[in-house]
Formats: sequence, structure tokens, C-alpha cells
Amino acid sequence: MAITLAKNSDVAVILIDNPPVNAIAHTIRIGLVDALYQANEDTSVVAIVIASAGDTFSAGADVREFDAPTRAPALGDVSNAIELSNKPVVAAIHGAALGGGFEFALSAHARIADAGARLGLPEVKLGLIPGGGGTQRLPRLAGFAAAVDLVATGREIGAHEALQIGVIDRIADEALFQEACTLARSLAGRMLRRTSTISPPPFGQDAIEKTILDLGKRARGQDAPTAGARMVMRAACVPFQDALREELALFNTLKTSDEAKSLRYVFGAERAARKHADLDHATPRPVHRIGVVGGGLMGAGITIAFAIAGFRVELAEQNDAAAASATEKLNAGFARMARSGRLTEPSRADALSRIGVSGELRAVQHCDLIIEAVYDDLAVKQSVLSAITSLVGADAIIATNTSYLDPNVLAQSVAGPQRFAGMHFFSPANLMRLVEVVRTDSASSETLATLLALSKRLGKVGVVAGSCEGFIGNRIFTAYRRECDFMLEDGALPHEVDAALEAFGYPMGPYAANDLAGLDISWARRKRGAASRDPSQRYVAIADKLCEQGRFGQKSGKGYYRYEGGRRLIDDDVITLIEDESRAARISRRTFTPDEIVTRVMRSIVDEGRRLLAEGIAARASDIDLVLIHGYGYPAWRGGPMYRAGVH
Ligand code: COA
Repeated sequence: MAITLAKNSDVAVILIDNPPVNAIAHTIRIGLVDALYQANEDTSVVAIVIASAGDTFSAGADVREFDAPTRAPALGDVSNAIELSNKPVVAAIHGAALGGGFEFALSAHARIADAGARLGLPEVKLGLIPGGGGTQRLPRLAGFAAAVDLVATGREIGAHEALQIGVIDRIADEALFQEACTLARSLAGRMLRRTSTISPPPFGQDAIEKTILDLGKRARGQDAPTAGARMVMRAACVPFQDALREELALFNTLKTSDEAKSLRYVFGAERAARKHADLDHATPRPVHRIGVVGGGLMGAGITIAFAIAGFRVELAEQNDAAAASATEKLNAGFARMARSGRLTEPSRADALSRIGVSGELRAVQHCDLIIEAVYDDLAVKQSVLSAITSLVGADAIIATNTSYLDPNVLAQSVAGPQRFAGMHFFSPANLMRLVEVVRTDSASSETLATLLALSKRLGKVGVVAGSCEGFIGNRIFTAYRRECDFMLEDGALPHEVDAALEAFGYPMGPYAANDLAGLDISWARRKRGAASRDPSQRYVAIADKLCEQGRFGQKSGKGYYRYEGGRRLIDDDVITLIEDESRAARISRRTFTPDEIVTRVMRSIVDEGRRLLAEGIAARASDIDLVLIHGYGYPAWRGGPMYRAGVH
């Protein structure tokens, strides 16, 4: 357990074994320094390999220690001890080498990784910067542009990219461990390459400054990305040891920041969301082949998400023409991902090769999971679900991607309803990280556990929700949109509401987002529900009036705004329409401050959240925060509305 020191002939092997993810806890740091000392003292040892047991090289610093002051030796001390070793140290990396795990690997004299290794400095996702020398060693190996990118975005890179930018020296052909020992032995007696002594490479000051400015804008109020980038740039002008001290001081300051505490809460919330007393003991079914029925935007996005995650996907439409249009949507979705750098060309080709598109439902016949993603209309979904049931194996799991219909009602169309539940994706499904796994009364634990496990395999955050209209996300969204509409009628304007929420950290305000998604879908839903609406409840008709004028959002060039040449512009006609509505409702309009707008939105979210908890639709307050962060653009670095309101 923890750290063991063994020998492979004349190479000392320091093995980290701290399940589940080899976090570098205090005891591990002590063990590593101690083992390095022993290996250096042992005259029969010519070189040292650091390797790890389990699936992960190391997930970095132990986040559970972040609420207390750091105990010596700190991670930086471990990195320094590795770098100063008189005998060559080689890091043998498999699985993920993240944060401090990557940092101490950077201080080794060489690094070898297996082809599946992933490396990164995700501290920024916890509101931090690397604190173990990473900001200073990475630019010395990879150059400033790559280091700024990795530190400020926290993105992971694969072994091939790592080799290309110079942070690893070799990719193991077959046996990582043996090759690491051979590499270490080959360095014995040679002049060691100590990362801190490498001169930082030249860089373009203007280009880097522009990158940092852009990062600041994209961070939308979060401090860590820019702080990390600026710390990397200190490598260009401050002696290494001084820069290490600065890095550690900044790390310790950030650790206690509101931003870091909020993001630690989100980290814990994401892991807690996977735990449910009744599901923890259920074994997820093996799923290899996915069927998606319906090739609209949602169906295409779901197909792309599964294909990228390595699944074989059969996408079924009702005829060849619809199948052709689904193929176009798939191609467009993939092209967008490639353009934005989210997908490399080989990965796109690879994912595409796993997708089959057909104009016949029969295509999903042999799938293990079939997701229905057809038009959100009860009768349509019922008939598609019964057709799917009669076609597929009795063991196949069937899920609906409905946004608003009650899956308990839809379950009645599925023979064997224990294998049926909701799997609600958010648009665009290949990008948005949230999946609501919706419990029906009849769903078995095995079905729900399978959908939850699949969400994780997709790299998404699965949140279990009870069955009701709108589940967690759309229930809350409806509540706060209503509050925004009240404010419009009371005196605010769409661009003021949007600006207030964008300044708070949302990527896009609700009205701009509505224009992007289209106003017609919710209009159709409101018309369907008009007869059952409670007349005593306040109703704001601004959205209906916009739709009556054919203002359906960006697709019609006009919505809450007007669009010219891709620019969003304030439209006086909309202001007049809103003022007319206020007059008709006998409301004398008043101004709203940005703070007031944000406070009212957050209060409406928390009130609805409390109702969802009371009704048992949400299992815990942190699940609600995750839904808002990963499905609706709430800024993660603020933790979440429930967290901020102190609701647990
Ligand atoms: N410190 C302490 N515990 C950690 C940890 C860390 N750095 N990283 C993960 N864990 C824990 C999780 O809380 C979870 O605990 P639980 O089983 O009690 O819920 C367990 O390890 C498994 O983690 P999980 O994320 O569910 O596993 P995974 O296989 O999906 O992913 C990693 C593995 C390493 C990719 C992922 O855990 C990760 O990204 N960790 C964070 C890395 C990081 O941010 N490091 C920088 C710290 S400054």
C-alpha cells in the first residue's frame, strides 16, 4: 500500500499505490521523498523509475486536504527532490497523469507514457493554479503558448500530443514498465536533463498577451485561468526558485478563495450525483450498440456523443429522405466540432465509421439501448415506443429523450416497463454535459444504473430526476423564465436582463438564448397548454405576441432582438411591444438594476429548487446545482444557486 520501493535488477522502482486514483496525499509525499532518498543511497541502484498501480498514474493533489494548510513536504518539495536526484528518474505514465501527478512527472529526467495516457493540469477547474512547479517547468519543456493553453484551460492531452509538444520523451511500444526501466538505465552515468535548468524558449510577447486577454474574456469572471497564464509567463523573467515561491504563495491564496471553494463543492457534487442508495448495488448492463430513433437536431447530437465515446450507433428515421437529412445534421455537427478544435480529423473519421443511418426503424432491432428522440408529442412518442418495443429484444433497454412529457405515461407504451426510463439530453447533445436520468415508477434499478453509468462513459454528468413535467432542469428554467418575463412587463428590457446574467457569468442571457433556440417550440407548447392554464396566475404574453408577428428568433432574423450580419441588435419595435403589454396590464414601468435582476432570478431558482426537493424530484440540492451548471450555463465557479443560498 501507498509507496513501495522494489528493484528490477539495478533499477529502483518506486510504486505509488493509493487507490482509487493515486492522489498525492501527505503520506504519499513523505513516502516518495523517502523512497527517493533510499534509492539514491543504495549503491546497487543505477537509476529510478516512478510508476503507479491501478488505472491512473495519479490524479494529483488530494483535494480532501485543501481545506487545511498544506503539510510539509509539499508537492513542490517532492518535485524538487525528484529533479535533484543524483540518479536518473524516469516517470512511467499510464492512464491519467493530472495536476500534481503531471507536475512531479515534469520534474523527472525523462518521461515515457503508454499510448492511452492522458496528461493535464486541471487545477483551474478547481479555481487553482498548479502549485508544485508546473507553471514553471511546463513552459521550459513545451514552450509558453502550449503551457499557457494547458494551465489556463485545464484541458487534457493524449500521449501523442504530449510527445509532439515535448512534455514526454517517448511512447511505450508495448510494455511500459520494462521500457521505462530500460530508458532509466540508459540515462545512468549521463548528464541529467533537469527541467528547471532548461532555458525557456523564445516567444512572441504580443501574441501571448492577446491570448491572455482572450482567456480573461472567456473566463467570464473566473480568476484562476488568467492567474495561471500570468504565472506561466513569470518563467520568462523570474529566476526559477523565486518563481516557485511565487507560484506556491498564489496557489495557497487561491485555495481559500470563494471561487476555489465553489469549484471544490462542484467537484464533490459531481461525484455525489452518481450515488443513490437504491442504485449503488445494481450492476449496470453491458451496452455496446446504441439505437437512436429520430434524426432531428437532438437525435443527431445524441448519435455523435455516443459514437465519439466509442459506441456503435444505429440512427433510424422514418424514411430515406428523413435519413438523408439526419446524415446532413450529423455531418454538420461533426464539422462544427472539428472547426472548433474539439475533434481531430482521425477521431471524426473514426466516430463516423461507427454510425449507421437508416430510413427504417428495423435498423435498431439488435441494439442494447434504444433512445427515442422523436418530436415531443404524446401520441407520436407513444406510437414510436410501441413500435420499438415490438421490434427489439426483451432485454433491450428503452429510453425516451422527452423534455416535457411524463415518462410514467410513456412507460405504458413499453412492454416490460422496468426496462424503460428517461434519458434527457440537452441541446446540442454532443456538447452539453448534462443528462437527466428520469426515474419512472416502473424502472428497475438495473435500468437506471445502466443509464447513469452510460452518462459517465459519455463524459457527461448524469443526474437522477423524478418523473414530472420538466424534470429538474426545465421545471427550474420555466420558473426563472417566468420571473424574467415578469421583470420585462414590470420595466426591464430583454437586453438588460441578458446583460445582468451575462455579467454574472452566464455565457448567454435567457432572451438571446431563446432567440438562438427558436421561440416557436415553446409557443406551440403554450398554445397546447392554454386550456389548462390557471387564469388566476399572472401570465405575460410578450413571447406570444412576438411569435404572432413571426419573430421566431435568429432563424427568422428577429426575436427579442433583430439580427443583422450575425450581430444581435436591440430592436425598438420589441421595446414598443413590451411597453404596450405593460400598459395593457396596467403596470407603470420602473427600472431594474443588474443586481436586482440577478437576485430575483436566483431567488426564483432556489424557490423552485426547494419545491423539487420537497416533492422528491431532486434527490439533493447539489444535483440541482449540477443541472443548472451543466445544462443551463450557470457559472460553475459560483458553485450553484442552492449552494449559495445555503440549501443542502
Ligand atoms: N483527490 C482526492 N480524491 C480524488 C481525486 C483527488 N485529486 N480525484 C478523484 N478522487 C476521488 C473521487 O472523489 C472519487 O471518490 P469517491 O469514489 O469517493 O466518489 C474517486 O476518487 C474516483 O474518482 P472519479 O472521478 O469518480 O473517477 P474517474 O475514474 O471517473 O476519473 C480521474 C479519474 C483521475 C480522471 C478524475 O478523478 C479526476 O479528474 N480527478 C481530479 C483530478 C484533479 O483535478 N487534480 C488536480 C487536483 S489540484
